[in-house]
Amino acid sequence: MQKTVSPVLRAKALDNRLPDPILGDKYAEQAMRRLDPDYDNRRFGTSQMGLAAVVRAKAHDDWARSFLADHPDAVVLHLGCGLDARVYRIDPPATVDWYDLDYPSIIELRQQFLPPREHYTLIGSSVTDLTWLDRIPRGRPVLMIAEGLVPYLTEADLRQLLTSVVDAFPTGQIQFDTVPVWAWRTSKWDPTLRKYDTQFHCGFNDPAALADWHPRLEYVDEAPMNDSPVLMAKAPANVRRMFRLLNLLPGMKRSTRIVRFRF
Ligand SMILES: C[S@@+](CC[C@H](N)C(=O)[O-])C[C@H]1O[C@@H](n2cnc3c(N)ncnc32)[C@H](O)[C@@H]1O
Repeated sequence: MQKTVSPVLRAKALDNRLPDPILGDKYAEQAMRRLDPDYDNRRFGTSQMGLAAVVRAKAHDDWARSFLADHPDAVVLHLGCGLDARVYRIDPPATVDWYDLDYPSIIELRQQFLPPREHYTLIGSSVTDLTWLDRIPRGRPVLMIAEGLVPYLTEADLRQLLTSVVDAFPTGQIQFDTVPVWAWRTSKWDPTLRKYDTQFHCGFNDPAALADWHPRLEYVDEAPMNDSPVLMAKAPANVRRMFRLLNLLPGMKRSTRIVRFRF
């Protein structure tokens, strides 16, 4: 299984145990327990430091809900979905067709852990093999969500993906998160990434400038993560203190940028 799935899933599972969760995702807790029954029983097993990733998920959910409210005929491309239960959290109307894409091994896990639903299709493929796009209905608004995926792509693959999606649909919203160049360059030494034997392949100091890759693409805005009001309002006091300290370090506040584009 792709190694980066479990830390985010674990963070979402632990969030669900807070008295007032940020995301409140019961599927994450169920899937995490099945993946690793002992996940909360080790050193730092219940640490809520992963809550920043939960904030990221919430920001993507909020943007997705608002796009789907305005475009109930949309198709959704949820790329690098991992075991994330976004389609169940958002529960779009039957007029929306939703596609969850990840590597075949992850899609197999999803089939074991998460229930099927109508107007919902799983695609087991690398996102970079763009033949999967041929399976998506055209002529409708598109919502592309890539949470925690972009840093694992090369810049060339990301560019090809974005321009192909814009070329394929009449209108849409594209939302993803990126890391800055320093985080990409130092990712080889990042202890968390090393633990999962992976590293980043791209980073951007000015993700808004990616709009220049296609004449129809326009940057919209950015959502906060490490200093987000929801994190400061809902995280346990020790986690809030830790983030306040971390955010004093240069670059930390924006060590992940959650960005939204439209076309
Ligand atoms: C950090 S996880 C995030 C999972 C999920 N989006 C979430 O936020 O819980 C990154 C995901 O991207 C997937 N991924 C990475 N490179 C990919 C590629 N080239 N094609 C498809 N999926 C990819 C991984 O398998 C993994 O599920």
